[in-house]
Amino acid sequence: MFSSRTNWHLAPNALTRVLKDVRSSGHEILDLTISNPTEAGISPDPELVLSALVNPDSTRYDPQPRGLLSARQAVCRYYHDAHRVFNLDPNRLILTTSTSEAYSYVFRLLSNPGDEILVPKPSYPLFEFLADLADVKLVPYPLIYDHGWLIDFDSLYKSASPRARAVIVVHPNNPTGNFASAPETAALNAFCRDYNTALIVDEVFLDYAHDGEPRPSFAANTDALTFTLSGISKISALPQMKFAWVATSGPGEIVHEACARLEVIADTFLSMNAPIQLAAPAFLDLRRQIQPILLDRLRANLAELDAQLKPHPACARLQVEGGWYVILRVPALESDEDLAIRLLRHAHVSVHPGHFYDFPTEGHLVLSLITEPEIFRQGIARLLDFMRTQT
Ligand SMILES: Cc1ncc(COP(=O)(O)O)c(C=O)c1O
Repeated sequence: MFSSRTNWHLAPNALTRVLKDVRSSGHEILDLTISNPTEAGISPDPELVLSALVNPDSTRYDPQPRGLLSARQAVCRYYHDAHRVFNLDPNRLILTTSTSEAYSYVFRLLSNPGDEILVPKPSYPLFEFLADLADVKLVPYPLIYDHGWLIDFDSLYKSASPRARAVIVVHPNNPTGNFASAPETAALNAFCRDYNTALIVDEVFLDYAHDGEPRPSFAANTDALTFTLSGISKISALPQMKFAWVATSGPGEIVHEACARLEVIADTFLSMNAPIQLAAPAFLDLRRQIQPILLDRLRANLAELDAQLKPHPACARLQVEGGWYVILRVPALESDEDLAIRLLRHAHVSVHPGHFYDFPTEGHLVLSLITEPEIFRQGIARLLDFMRTQT
């Protein structure tokens, strides 16, 4: 009855089952995995959010495949003001309801069934489902950790076959928090030239460099065909508003052709709604209010973690440059999933095991840095107390 691409294993995994059990037995869990800002007590001023939605123009239907011009111009202003991308033409933007939708448009644009997309490992688990739905095969290329995360270009070249259509770069990566450096960007462009592939760059966390130094956006990259994806779910901490985009850049004619084809894909769905597009300029401006609050929280939680780790040499955190996560290195005495389950059962602390993100070895736990500070402080204390009993 069903397509083989939807033959997913739908039963909840062991960790989810234990989480449900522990919750239903009435224990309060300190959740260090929350990455939804609306659940972490961080949201822009509700009055400003709601008033942006009240616009009489919302009663008109003006179907624009690329999205309303006023909304696309607001995205161009964001790149201009936040990342010094001065020449982004709104015609090179296609609006989508989410970054995930933007991925699926770009996969459809670039790939035939069975084609390959190169993805960083470790990284974000959503790609597998997006790839299944687009009938493409994901081929991992490793990031290596050496006082910070780096792209392993030797392995990238070895992983690429003639069916490779694109390389995904998450800038900064989720959950490792590394940005693509200038030399890595140059090497990625060279790879794309060698293999005639495109770059798909996910910049949802671009504004969250922990040192406060703005990092360059790939929206200005013209050395390879580049699709830069982002949206307000992270930029303005408004995931519920479903406003994202894909910006296309690259050498000459091919950009024009890519945008024209993407426009047909977007026109087929016309998934954007009027109220959100009309509110987009105000929503994007709300980043100025919310990002300083978020950055303070990321830094405060990181400092708290470092302070608690000092007397605990068996555990360490990995270097992180940006984004909303941090990785804790713990003794690999069992699988990360077993450890996460035992932490839930015995310490009532919820963390993500590294294997959710395809870490190559055991001994990694992923924590959300947007967790409310008091929960973070208590959760880390309980986690480290528990680890002390293990080592
Ligand atoms: C790296 C990365 N890309 C994309 C997304 C999804 O963003 P959106 O809400 O725009 O689909 C997430 C969500 O956490 C993410 O971590």
